[in-house]
Amino acid sequence: MLDAACGTGRALPPLRAAVGLSGHVLGVDVTAEMLTTATRRGRHRTAQLVLADVVRLPVGTNRIDAVLAAGLLAHLEDPEAGLAELARVCRPGGRLALFHPLGRVALARRHGSTPDPGDIRAEPAIRRALAHTGWRCERVDDRPDRYLVLAVRETPTAALPNRY
Ligand SMILES: C[S@@+](CC[C@H](N)C(=O)[O-])C[C@H]1O[C@@H](n2cnc3c(N)ncnc32)[C@H](O)[C@@H]1O
Repeated sequence: MLDAACGTGRALPPLRAAVGLSGHVLGVDVTAEMLTTATRRGRHRTAQLVLADVVRLPVGTNRIDAVLAAGLLAHLEDPEAGLAELARVCRPGGRLALFHPLGRVALARRHGSTPDPGDIRAEPAIRRALAHTGWRCERVDDRPDRYLVLAVRETPTAALPNRY
């Protein structure tokens, strides 16, 4: 499993528990300090930690069974490029979970605003972005206490746009 933008690695122990001893968990983050903290917290014992940008992953094509990206999309300059790279490394039929511990309304309220309808995480936009980048969206669950999108990697016959 890949934890894309693993931060301090708080999801790594449950991911390790999910894959079992024979599985492999990779935690990738672009910020060295995050991985240092993850190591200090012992998360390097549950997963391989790699300093990398999710838009250019040092991972072969079709190598990953499932991807978690928690709190990532808002950080990406080109979210579709990130989703396309996650699709490249994920095997056909593999799964993607996009997660945030707050839904869009609750998150905007925390910043004293309302959700931006042009935001990639808005349901029509995320469905479109996933379809453009090789994912079949199965669920968009945007409620106060969580934002969760589940998608499945399409088979390679579903052509990706040329820019990817
Ligand atoms: C809000 S934190 C979420 C961390 C973790 N997933 C969690 O839920 O605790 C966002 C993380 O995304 C990482 N990040 C942002 N842009 C990234 C990129 N292009 N590639 C990899 N990691 C990135 C940041 O370094 C940060 O650790």
